[in-house]
Amino acid sequence: MADTMTDGAQVEQAGNAAPARWYDADWLRAWHEARSIVARVCPGRLDEFVHAFDVLRTPADFRPLRLPGLFGAEELAALRRSIRGIPQAAFEMHEAATFGRFVVHDHPEMTALQRTFVDRVGEWVGEPVEISYNFLSFYTRMGVCRPHIDAPSAKWTLDICIDQSDVWPIHFSKVVPWPDPHAPRAADWADAIKRDPALDFQTALLSPGDAVLFGGSSAWHYRDPLPGGDRRQFCDLLFMHFVPVGTVPLLRAGDWPELFGIPELQDVPGLDTAY
Ligand SMILES: [Fe+2]
Repeated sequence: MADTMTDGAQVEQAGNAAPARWYDADWLRAWHEARSIVARVCPGRLDEFVHAFDVLRTPADFRPLRLPGLFGAEELAALRRSIRGIPQAAFEMHEAATFGRFVVHDHPEMTALQRTFVDRVGEWVGEPVEISYNFLSFYTRMGVCRPHIDAPSAKWTLDICIDQSDVWPIHFSKVVPWPDPHAPRAADWADAIKRDPALDFQTALLSPGDAVLFGGSSAWHYRDPLPGGDRRQFCDLLFMHFVPVGTVPLLRAGDWPELFGIPELQDVPGLDTAY
């Protein structure tokens, strides 16, 4: 999840082909590593291991669902009032440099709000879901969100626009197979993804109260930098993440050795932080 991010900008300066450490790639890195270990130590169980995660994959034909006016004027006003009540100390600064944003994870009022969407999100995506986590994201004029694929703890994301200075497009590729973050990519990999016609990017434009529901753990997505300049620019968003009911043990890489009864999976680097 967001706390384990790595800065895409770091990679873009890294020179020739090298693994691309996009935001939220730790889980996929652990999964591909675990898959290699299973193939080596108990190859007869490889299919079982791989298919155990099918529930976390996004149907190939899923495309983001636009939900204009999901929040009416009164609901939006109530949400903004809740946010104004959040103390400064609750704001997390660790993504200020990389995303140009401040975030607040799992605020109790946001989690209560998220609870009211569980059934509807389940209907929209076609499977029963439960809450994974949520965060408020306050982008500043430095706002940017480089191309990335989320960990499956964000299999389904309801992205709600709360307030903004500018309509800020978000772009989604079609559903793709889980890429291996270990694979070398050219230094300009992020731009190459944006330009790749085979990824069939679609764009959503949100106004306050609008939302888009997407499957970010199986689709590249990004926002280009806010235009910058002298005037104050900002975009306040609420991200609610949902997962299929009962999948939390699969989401926690640290649980895999016991879950699958394969102690060698303890050797996966970063196992305990991949979520
Ligand atoms: Fe994302």
